[in-house]
Order: sequence, then structure tokens, then C-alpha cells
Amino acid sequence: MRALVLASLAAALAACSDAWSDTAGWEAENPVVDLPEPPLGVADNVSWRKLEAQQGLKVTPEKVRLGRWLFFDARLSKDGTVSCATCHHPENAFSEPLPTSKGIAGQVGARKAPPIVNAAFPIQPVYFWDGRASTLAEQAKGPIENPIEMGSTHVLCVQSIGKIAGYRKIFAQVYGDEEPTIDRIADAIAAFEATLFSGNSAWDRYQNEDDATIAPEVKLGAELFHGKAQCNQCHLGFNFTDSQFHNLGVGWDPAKQAYKDEGRKKVTGKPEDLAAFKTPTLRDVTRHAPYMHDGSIETLLEVVELYDRGGEPGAPNLSKKVTKLGLTEDEKKAIVAFLEALTGDSDNKGVVPPSLPE
Ligand code: HEC
Ligand code: HEC
Repeated sequence: MRALVLASLAAALAACSDAWSDTAGWEAENPVVDLPEPPLGVADNVSWRKLEAQQGLKVTPEKVRLGRWLFFDARLSKDGTVSCATCHHPENAFSEPLPTSKGIAGQVGARKAPPIVNAAFPIQPVYFWDGRASTLAEQAKGPIENPIEMGSTHVLCVQSIGKIAGYRKIFAQVYGDEEPTIDRIADAIAAFEATLFSGNSAWDRYQNEDDATIAPEVKLGAELFHGKAQCNQCHLGFNFTDSQFHNLGVGWDPAKQAYKDEGRKKVTGKPEDLAAFKTPTLRDVTRHAPYMHDGSIETLLEVVELYDRGGEPGAPNLSKKVTKLGLTEDEKKAIVAFLEALTGDSDNKGVVPPSLPE
């Protein structure tokens, strides 16, 4: 009884303070915060100014807050059931632990949701497994009108968001007037994504701090990665990707003598791009098995075994950069240990769904 009285007293007080400050709970609980400091191993490659020049994306704390709301808001979808976070979970490096994603009305797509970490700062801005978008904002518009993801249209999405008074107020704060156009929705989501980092891994500390040590197995794995196994032909730079497209033979169906997914060729029409996919980042790779564009490989050891075989045997149009490696069992395990050492220090469990504008 006493608890009940106290609770209703607290609720009454909260209501009063809302009336006084004119700040609703959803807004007060999600204050504007400073842009995050990029972590060790990543920071040198993060330039907000370069991002603006390269992708036309200006990142401000106010815009990031708006983008966080939109990223978690299922009202962007046709029937209010699917948000970006339905398939991009914070704790899985903004990927998900499923081979392929389930969108609106339980429909299943053909590709694995990629992680979204350090995504705003690639060597070349190319997004999706086949690189069909060249900015994060352009990318964000895709799933909203994808019939099996969020199933809406841009017009409908703008209408649904525009009906929400809380959003109109925030759009005015960020963009100068309260209209939520599709370009603004995508721009704000992209700004939020630009603040999602993975770094300060055991490997970063070993590379950057004088007194940091690392297990001998990881050290051996790193030597193999950059040497005998030549993984760094494609997984290079601070984010371990060349932003290019290669075919490892994943998705080859020997019975049908055909690839299940034509990959980059769908975008360029070039035969040499058949079944080539974007090299994914290896940061946080332990957080989002299964692997590859179709989620067909369950473990990192099995991924290394695919490379050891020189890609999928018999599959046509394989990258010339994948050849039989002749790794010993210990060497395979060492490469896996190195991949594990690329796990960042944040599991993103702090990125919780915010209470949403009303
Ligand atoms: C139904 C599940 C689903 C939903 C909902 C969804 N995504 Fe995705 N996302 C995917 C899949 C699957 C891919 C890969 C598709 C492809 O490559 O063709 C992807 C790709 C991406 C990529 C590209 C990453 C890269 O490295 O190329 C980004 C960024 C992204 N999504 C952000 C978003 C945003 C922002 C939203 C909300 C507006 C969203 N996604 C909604 C499943 C989903
Ligand atoms: C020819 C370029 C190339 C080389 C060499 C290469 N990779 Fe990859 N890697 C890729 C591409 C492209 C994919 C995605 C392929 C797909 O989905 O069809 C990938 C996927 C992966 C994945 C899965 C990541 C995920 O998010 O699904 C891991 C792990 C990986 N590579 C590790 C390695 C290791 C370890 C080596 C060395 C033994 C290596 N790669 C060599 C291009 C390369």
C-alpha cells in the first residue's frame, strides 16, 4: 500500500515537472550527448570532416540523437513491427546471429545482415554485400521500401513519422523546420551509425601500447594472416577490409551448376563480378556468427578451412587471390585466435532501445 502511494506520488511529481519544463519522458531520458571518442586502433582513421566531404554527412550530437530514435523505431515500417534494430542488434556488432534476416510478416531474405561498426570510415564507401549504395544515407533508404524488410514506401514512412508531434519538434531542432523528409530521416540514421565503433581490442592494445602483451598463439596467427595465408590481400587497413569485391565460391550449388546469388554482377553486369561480394570487416567478427553473405558458415575455424582449400572446390570465377594454403591444424587455430583478438572492448550492451517520441 505504502509503495503504491509513493509510486503514484512519484508519477504525479514527474507529470508536474514535465508540465513545468515541457520536456516529455522520452526526450528527457535521451539527452543530447557529446559525440563518442573513437577507440584505440580506430581513432586515427576517424575524421568527421572527411566524412562530410566524402559522403555529405554532417554528424552533430543533436542529429545522432534523432538517428538513434529512428533506428529503433518500428513506426518506419509499413505495419509498425520492424525497425532497423530488428535485424541489427547492438550486442551482435549491429548484425544478428542468424544466417538470413526475417523482415515484415516473417518474410525471410537471402542475405546475412552485416555488422555496422566503423562503417562510416571505409577505404571506399560501398554498402551492401554487392556495393549498390555509395553512402550510408543512401543505404538507409533501401530497407524502408524493401518489400521483405520494412515493406513501406518512402511517402508512407514520411507520413507516419510526420504524424508524431515529438518527432516534428526534434526535426525542427536538427534541420530548422519540422518536416521529416526521407532524405532527413536517412541522414539522421546515417549520423547515428557513424558513431558506432569497434576498437581497443587486445590486438589494438598490443599494437599501440608499449607494455601490452599478447598470447603467443595470437602472435603466430597475426604472422600467418599477414604472411603464409595472405589474408591481408583483401582484409587490410584499420578495419580489415579493402572495400572491394571478391568471389570465394560461397553459394555455389554443384547440383545446379549455378550460384544462388550473383552478387556484384547484379550491380555492374560484368561477368567477372559473378558471385563477388564485399570484403567484410573482421572487427568484432566473434560477435555475429554465422558468416559470409549467406550466413552459410557456422564457425571461424570452418571459414579458415575454406581458405585452406583455396575457396569452394569446383566453383567458377574464383578470385585469383585465393589459393590452397597448406595450413597445419595448429596454424588454423592460431589464425582463429588472431580473429578473436580483434573483438572490441565494447559489447554495445549500453546501446539500449530508447523510449520513443510521442
Ligand atoms: C529485415 C532485416 C533488416 C532490416 C529491418 C534492416 N536491415 Fe540493414 N541489412 C540487412 C541485410 C540482410 C543486409 C545485407 C543486404 C544486402 O547486402 O543486399 C543489410 C545491410 C545493411 C547495411 C550495409 C552494411 C555494409 O557493410 O554494407 C547497413 C549500414 C544497414 N543494413 C543498415 C540498416 C538500417 C539503417 C536499417 C533501417 C532503416 C536497416 N538496415 C534495416 C537486414 C536488415
Ligand atoms: C580474395 C580476397 C580475400 C582473401 C585473400 C581473404 N578474404 Fe576473408 N573474405 C573476403 C570476402 C569477399 C568475404 C565475404 C565472401 C562472401 O560472403 O561470399 C570474406 C569473408 C571472411 C570472413 C567472414 C566474415 C563475416 O562477417 O561473415 C572471415 C572471418 C574472413 N573472411 C577471414 C579471412 C581470413 C582468416 C583470411 C586468410 C586465411 C581471409 N579472410 C582471406 C575476402 C578475402
